[in-house]
Amino acid sequence: MTGKVVVVTGATSGLGYESARILCEAGNDVILACRDEEKAKRAIAKIKQQTPNALATYIHLDLAELKSVRQFVEEFHALNKKLNVLINNAGVALNFRDTKRQYTEDNFDLTIGTNHLGPFLLTNLLLDDLKKAAQEENGDARIVVVTSSMHEPKASKKTKHLQPIDIDNLFLFNEGTYNGLQAYKNSKAANLLFTYELAKKLDGTGVKVNAICPGIVPGTELMRHAGGAQKPFARYVLHGMLRLAKLIKTVPQSATSICALAMDDKFKDVTGKFIKDGVETQSSEETLNEELQGKLWELSGRYTALEGYEPLEVVRPLPPPEPAAAPEDPNKTDEQKTAEESNEKDEKKNDEDATEIIKEGKKEAADVDKENKDELKKDEKEKNEEEEKTDKEKPADEKAEKIEEAAAV
Ligand SMILES: NC(=O)c1ccc[n+]([C@@H]2O[C@H](COP(=O)([O-])OP(=O)(O)OC[C@H]3O[C@@H](n4cnc5c(N)ncnc54)[C@H](OP(=O)(O)O)[C@@H]3O)[C@@H](O)[C@H]2O)c1
Repeated sequence: MTGKVVVVTGATSGLGYESARILCEAGNDVILACRDEEKAKRAIAKIKQQTPNALATYIHLDLAELKSVRQFVEEFHALNKKLNVLINNAGVALNFRDTKRQYTEDNFDLTIGTNHLGPFLLTNLLLDDLKKAAQEENGDARIVVVTSSMHEPKASKKTKHLQPIDIDNLFLFNEGTYNGLQAYKNSKAANLLFTYELAKKLDGTGVKVNAICPGIVPGTELMRHAGGAQKPFARYVLHGMLRLAKLIKTVPQSATSICALAMDDKFKDVTGKFIKDGVETQSSEETLNEELQGKLWELSGRYTALEGYEPLEVVRPLPPPEPAAAPEDPNKTDEQKTAEESNEKDEKKNDEDATEIIKEGKKEAADVDKENKDELKKDEKEKNEEEEKTDKEKPADEKAEKIEEAAAV
């Protein structure tokens, strides 16, 4: 897993940072493609503290701005490096309940713009570099797309109501269709539709492309935009609850699985697949729809003004009129006033209950972290013991082989 040139997007925190760290430690030349220079430089300093001779370079990349994607590729080309691996990791998850849309520089919905259209353009502009690397002797060139199991609405009760992607309403501009959760689910389904279509287009070039779900990893910054109660819920309560089902992963565990897909021989010939828990897994029904894969590709080519596609400009929809504030009702009865007071009391009690649950969740989360760390230590110890044992057994094995050989003669 050494000596390769790897671009990792979103390497300032979470899975991207940890993947960059692992890849540097293994002796690869890693480009950290990030939008925040200060954070990126801090990430590199941290990597170098651990691996002083790490090959880690920062190049600015804001996936929510097509101009920045093109600029990134120019800067990368100016370095005159080959490219073996592109890890499309960066992603954003806005407040799931929010119905107020946010936009990219190019007027796309921010979630699908950052999670799909930016990476779509970036990947396409780097394809020639990857093809070159694949065609070298013993060439190995791969693209890894970090998606999520949340692309599958059937995965949980909370997502069951979500709608399939409507290709004529990709940015959820139609009134009443946008909320943060629907946008995130659509963007992660788009990651898979893109991966499958790209694998078909890359057939015969030697470049491999696969998508991966890293599992549920509450230790990253992904829920930073979540609403007040949602954030601690995801980090602590959910963390604690999922612990029982052993579903959550630590950041190092998940980053290791991303790096394995990018580097391990096990995946060298695998392409056009969805990987979860280290194995090929079937993704949602809509992502397997070949017609949709083709349509999304065509539309993405037009929105990002990719060479060969007729550019399609996007105009933001007009904001809905602000609802007028309801005037105080002068005829409010005493009964109505008492009911309102009682509601307020209930809300306060609910908040107190939530704080209590969060406290418990925090404790659970700490237990899980400890448990995971202990498990990692145990694995390491077992591995070392195994290696020591093999070293001790070696001479005995060699002796036995010699005796066998002698007997045969
Ligand atoms: N954590 C989970 O449970 C989980 C589960 C399934 C899938 N995933 C996927 O894993 C990937 C990594 O997420 P994470 O959990 O590691 O979250 P994270 O800690 O929030 O990392 C996200 C990274 O993406 C970067 N990013 C966001 N918007 C960007 C933009 N416009 N341009 C360039 N970079 C941008 C962030 O940069 P800044 O530091 O500048 O904000 C950050 O480096 C995402 O694709 C996510 O969908 C995560």
